Amino acid sequence: MAQTDTTDRGNWNSRIGFVLAAAGSAVGLGNIWRFPTEVASNGGGAFLLIYLICCFAIGFPVMVAELSIGRKTERNPVGAFKALSSNKFYPLIGFWGVLCGVMILSFYTVVAGWTFSYVFEEIFFFAGLDSWATYFAEVSNGVKNGIFSTIFMGATVSIILGGVSDGIERATKFMMPVLIGILMIMIGYVAFQPGAATGFAEYLKPDFSQISAPLIFSAMGQAFFSLSLGMGALITYGSYLSKKENVPEAAAFVTLADVGIAFLAGLLIMPAMYMAESFGVNIFSESGELLASSDLIFQVLPALFHSLNTTAGIIFGVSFFLLLSMAALTSTISLLEVPTSYVIDEYNVKRKKAAITIGAGILIISLIISFDISLIGSIDFIFSKVGLPLGGFLICYFLGYVWTVKNALEELEHGYPGLDSSIFKAVWPIFIKFLAPLAILYNLLEAIGFISY
Ligand code: PFF
Repeated sequence: MAQTDTTDRGNWNSRIGFVLAAAGSAVGLGNIWRFPTEVASNGGGAFLLIYLICCFAIGFPVMVAELSIGRKTERNPVGAFKALSSNKFYPLIGFWGVLCGVMILSFYTVVAGWTFSYVFEEIFFFAGLDSWATYFAEVSNGVKNGIFSTIFMGATVSIILGGVSDGIERATKFMMPVLIGILMIMIGYVAFQPGAATGFAEYLKPDFSQISAPLIFSAMGQAFFSLSLGMGALITYGSYLSKKENVPEAAAFVTLADVGIAFLAGLLIMPAMYMAESFGVNIFSESGELLASSDLIFQVLPALFHSLNTTAGIIFGVSFFLLLSMAALTSTISLLEVPTSYVIDEYNVKRKKAAITIGAGILIISLIISFDISLIGSIDFIFSKVGLPLGGFLICYFLGYVWTVKNALEELEHGYPGLDSSIFKAVWPIFIKFLAPLAILYNLLEAIGFISY
């Protein structure tokens, strides 16, 4: 097995390029499509608080762990574990990551395809809410769905073909500022519309009585998914990182950017929902709960855009779905980069061949899902809600007890001259060896019914 040919690997060109690429991976459908409604239907501010704890106390330490493993070994997730231990078991952690990446990308491409199809539909399709429901049922199933999944996978593969700095870095450096700009403008507009104040209140009002084991499990799963952790995406991105970079600082930027954008997305989506309600659009199910996120994003919001005047409706509709599509694209490229880098490193395959073959393979799974979207729920549960925290647990265990914190800190010293006297050095090992893995394990056992209280 060829292990050492690194000619097709590549490196980030600049620090900001890496941070934007990693933040681009993190900021995605998870932040805009999933997070705001998850907060609103799970106790508002109470969920937010638990989520923040999960991101900073579990997510951030795991992110530093992934990046340090990647930078040390300059390998894909499987090769990285091989390089750091002779035990044959540990590369399985990387395999699990690659598998999770493949399966997550397969359904993510389908939902990303919907967002992209709506960019066009916002221009050509004018309808009331009832018609949006019919429209969504049509676009989210069958041939139309398959076509847009294919377009989205094509875009992802074409960026990956450009390599690390000319493909991924260049694309994310362009898309991330545009995405943030669109988000800010839309928040500014919606904040002063009728219903917005109720939306803010519903988003942030804490209901601590809702805190429960399933809620904590949801918040943890959302934190892993949103920060792109547990499947080696950041081992891969870390493997292109220069020794000059301060890894904990870069990880802190990425965590803050991801959490910040998720929070901002809520400040757009929730007021927009209540604005739609004030225009007579129903946003609650028969049992009085907020509708599911797919219905809110793909039916309620388009209905809202089209209740504005035509020009404003088109501008807002197109901007919003472009925002979602770009957020999704900067994430799909990181999802595809994981299996691609694995094949490049471990089988010495050229990037072009690897990206096209793997992209086509995953597209086949996406097309199957396109014709039966009920599969999304189970794949999401196994590979993201359970799979990513499980991967995170194994990464903590590996770093803490196999590679050892001492070796990891030696790696982190590159680019971080003040490490020795830092609080980070005092605290991170405790989180990575004890707090994070125990919290993850407890939550996972609880979720699969092993522990109950
Ligand atoms: N972080 C992405 C989102 O929030 O949409 C999803 C994701 C991307 C998960 C990359 C995992 C990953 F490796």
